[in-house]
Order: sequence, then C-alpha cells, then structure tokens
Amino acid sequence: MTTISPLPPALRTRAADVGRRFPTDFVWGAATAAPQIEGSIDADGRTPSIWDVFARVPGAVADGDTLDRADEHYLRWRDDVALMSDLGLDAYRFSIAWPRIVPAADGIVNSRGLDFYDALVDELLGNGIEPFATLYHWDLPQWQQERGGWADRSVAHRFAEYASIVADRLGDRVRNWMTLNEPWVYVFLGHLDGVHAPGIRSEEHAVRAMHHTLLAHGLGTQALRAALPADRNVGIALSMSPAEPATPGPEDAAAAERFDLYRNWLFLHPITHGQYHPGTEELFDTEIPIQEGDLEVISSPIEFVGINYYARGVVQADDGVPVVRAKETPPAGVFTAMGWEVHPQGIADIVTQTHEKYAPGAIYITENGSAWDDEEASDGSIVDTPRVDYLLDHLTAAAGCLNTGAPLRGYFAWSLLDNFEWAEGYRKRFGIVHVDYPTQRRTVKQSGAVYRTVALANAEDE
Ligand code: NOJ
Repeated sequence: MTTISPLPPALRTRAADVGRRFPTDFVWGAATAAPQIEGSIDADGRTPSIWDVFARVPGAVADGDTLDRADEHYLRWRDDVALMSDLGLDAYRFSIAWPRIVPAADGIVNSRGLDFYDALVDELLGNGIEPFATLYHWDLPQWQQERGGWADRSVAHRFAEYASIVADRLGDRVRNWMTLNEPWVYVFLGHLDGVHAPGIRSEEHAVRAMHHTLLAHGLGTQALRAALPADRNVGIALSMSPAEPATPGPEDAAAAERFDLYRNWLFLHPITHGQYHPGTEELFDTEIPIQEGDLEVISSPIEFVGINYYARGVVQADDGVPVVRAKETPPAGVFTAMGWEVHPQGIADIVTQTHEKYAPGAIYITENGSAWDDEEASDGSIVDTPRVDYLLDHLTAAAGCLNTGAPLRGYFAWSLLDNFEWAEGYRKRFGIVHVDYPTQRRTVKQSGAVYRTVALANAEDE
C-alpha cells in the first residue's frame, strides 16, 4: 500500500466539492508516455528511437539527460499499477513504444515487446483500471528516421502496419485507442524549430511531416478499425491553446486568428472535414504533398478527440515574426516552472470551441497539468500547493463547460509520475507522484492525494 498523507480538512472538502461537479460516469485518469518513463532502452530487443539519438546530441537536452533509465517503469510497472490503484484512478493513458514492437526496417514483429504491454494491460484490468493506449508519443524508430522519418511518405504505411500489429495483440482488451499524440509539437518543434527530435530546421521537412502525420493517422485509424472488435473507440490527442489577441486592434486579431488555425485546427480540421482548413496553405511557402485519395483516408471517422491543454496563447502581431511563429505576449499573471501562464478558463474555452466547431462524439482532456519547483519537507512529504491549485482550478473550469453540452467524458492528469520532460530533461517535474531519480522511490504529492479525493468523491465512495 502506498502511503498517502491525509489532507487538511478544508482542502479535502474543496477537492470533494470539485469531484461532485462531474457526472458519476466521468473517467478519472492519469497519463504518461513510454519514452518519458520506461527506461530499459535496449531491453528485450528494443532498438533506438529518434529521442535516444537526439538526447545524445550535445546541448539538445538540459543537463545532458537521456531516456536510458527514466522512471524504470519497464522494471517497476507492477508497482506503478498498484500506485494507480491506490490513487483511485479509473483509467490510465500510456503509450506504446514503436521501436519495441518493430525494431528494424524489415518489419519483423518483436513479440517480447508486445509481451510487456500485454502484461501491463492485464494488470490494469485486474485492478479495475481502463487502459487508454496511444500508439505514437514521439519515439519514432531510428530506422524510419534513416529512411526520411516523418518527411518520407513511407512512414504512414509503416505506422499503419505497426497499428495493426498492436491492435491484433491488445484489441481484445483495450477499448480506447489514440493514434498520435500532439502532432503539432513533434511536427513543428521537431522539423521547423529543431528543438525536439529529430532536430531538423526546415519548413519543407515540417510541411511534409505534417501531411504524412495526417496520412498516418488516417491509415492507422483504418488499420485499427480492421483489426479491432466493432465497439472500440479510436481518437487522437491534440495539443490546444485557445488564442486571444493581446489588444483589441485588428492586427492582433488577425495574428490571433492565424495562431488559432496553426495551433488548434491544423490537424483536426482535415481529420473531421476531409480538407485542409482554409488559410493553411498560406501559412507556408512549401506546397503540401497531397496525393489523390489522401484526404478521404485522413478523414476516416473517429469516435473521440483528446485535448491536451496547458495554457492559452495571447497573440501579438509582429512583422518580424514569420506567420508560423506567432508572437505570444503573456500578460501579468502566474507562470509555471515551464514559463506557461496559469489560465484555468482556457480549458473550458477550448473544449467548448472544439465542441462548437467540430462536434466530436466525445471529448477527453487527455493531458492537463503543471510543472513546479517542488520542495521536499524534512519528513519527505511534498506539499505542492501551486499544483493543487492548478488542478482544482482547471477541473472547476472544466466542469463549467459541461453546461454547454460539450461531451466531455474524462480527464487525465499529466502526469502520473515526474518524468523525462523532453528538451528540459528531468529538471521539470509534472508528476502528481514524485520520483527520486537516484533511488526511484515514488512519493505521492499532495496533488496526488487531492486528485484521489476528487475521483473518489465523484464516484460517491466518500
Ligand atoms: C504534452 C506532451 O504530450 C507530454 O509528453 C509533455 O510531457 C507534456 N505536454 C508537458 O510538456
């Protein structure tokens, strides 16, 4: 049993009140991603991903951190599932590491890689926790990068093959699937800004990666559909930041509109409408490499949209800034350790906008959370008040948008555990559970205890 320190009574009441604002079938989950927690990067036949390679480029990741060990989840998964159960979670969103499943360009399936997720899924279900699987959370096999990565059209076909392999093995038990996580981030931060793997700075690569990502989503959705029982749900997790102009002037309004398209609807529009959003082509100097039939594939029906929300964008026009790099000007406010403004109303705004514009059958908040410089007390406890406030304020705002008719079905806290925060390495901590990296000891933070109280109060167990 995990030790979870009791909450001060007032905080307990506040958390329980928040939980009771949601319908009783609301899904309370936590999220992670394979490369950020698993470690064991060469165990059981896994080969390198682009992030293993990128992390070794001097200066690419803060403090020279690598994914080699991470949270040792590949070794400690059983304990981690017990922890989720102690936290009262209904669901767990995790990702599957493509280079564990298909380690080489020959496409041969590595069954030892599948065994890991097979056992994880059984353990989750045995603890009453619903698995939500993401097929791609940024760990492209390096062998595919050597063939052109996301910029090469072949990636979409390789992704569909991989999707089908995983669905064949886990589809009898996993009911909820996401093809891709945050395509905007890996496409543009990885191929235009070069600050994420594979570290490319080229608009041409980025535009090609964008289109091939959409095609991979479409072919992947079709492959899942073909391999899964009929009642399964397929979706995608998208990063979203509602856009607001910095001033009421027309230039800022126009800049905010471009930001809104670029950051929020660039992927969702073609997925739901079978065509690129008007204005997309004008964002780039490069032609989008669309081939006949692509847009029908891309718009294969899905059951849900996952929204990853962290902060809004307050946008200012600036001639010196290319269109695709809108200038954000955060107003005075509270900022997390990532430098992101705390703006709870944004979670409700973006859910409502997604509902009104695209009317997906279901919406999940597939990620929401915050990094802070947590301090450990002398007794080892972590009273992470800013994260507690962030969590409760965002949940309160999210509950508010339920009145708009938005089909918000669940919330996944980012993250279950402190983990590898990409270019920021391990120094930025998002977990509701603290990880002491040298010992790998897990300690539930006060935010974890609060989240448990929210979930249990909602289930009317308390
Ligand atoms: C979104 C990404 O999906 C996740 O991997 C990342 O750690 C969080 N945002 C926080 O930046």
